[in-house]
Amino acid sequence: MLLIGALSFTALGCGNNEATDTDKSKGEQMETIKIGTDAAYPPFEKQEGNGDITGFDIEVLDAIAKASGLEYTIENTGWDPLFYGIDNGKIDAGISAITITDERKEKYDFTEPYFEAKQVILLPKDSTVTSLKGLEGKNIGVQSATTGEVVVQQAFGKTYENLKGYDDTPSAIEDLKLGRLDAVVADNGVLLEYAKKLGSDKFKVIEDASFEPEYYGIITKKGNTQLLDKLNEGLKKIKEDGTYDKIYAKYFGAE
Ligand code: ARG
Repeated sequence: MLLIGALSFTALGCGNNEATDTDKSKGEQMETIKIGTDAAYPPFEKQEGNGDITGFDIEVLDAIAKASGLEYTIENTGWDPLFYGIDNGKIDAGISAITITDERKEKYDFTEPYFEAKQVILLPKDSTVTSLKGLEGKNIGVQSATTGEVVVQQAFGKTYENLKGYDDTPSAIEDLKLGRLDAVVADNGVLLEYAKKLGSDKFKVIEDASFEPEYYGIITKKGNTQLLDKLNEGLKKIKEDGTYDKIYAKYFGAE
């Protein structure tokens, strides 16, 4: 059920992909790498009705692959299974708006950052809450094992009883819509998009001074330097040649 939509994007138009099957003389041929994502985090990743996985991250990944001569397939693993998949080698890398944190860096490697984000709070329009602290005692929804969960736990304790963890962010949003939650905490790009979709007459997004900048990276198994180097090389190229900026502008406007 999780393995829907494994798209076979090959890095089209990349003439410099030397490491083919026929290239046996080189010990280190680059095979097709498997990428995991939790395709329920628009505009970074989402799954279309036809199964295609699309979004900002996916376009960045595709551009990186083309620039560094990598071939890849991508599958919608979900969030927790993405990390397990890296652990057990089912996937080689993950791109999923994943914040580079010290805790994760103990277990995984990350590419250089490719996006800056921060946490925000999604509230019903008529909510009187103006800060994270103002949510004390209220029902707060987060996606489990995300930095949204971390900031709420930092504010109200690890065992805060009104904190509800969901497997994916859309499920938390659903419960907010149904009035079962007073707020959802997640990344700004995502909640701003939901707020727009749900209607600014119904929902609003607020910031909190305690929320620090976060940086997204592509995650790999610790020590997979061959893949990490390739990804970083591609990322560097697309930042330098304007490809990254084009993708950024398409999703977030010029900056
Ligand atoms: N940036 C946050 C984190 O790394 C949330 C990412 C969630 N991504 C997703 N595709 N659901 O914890």
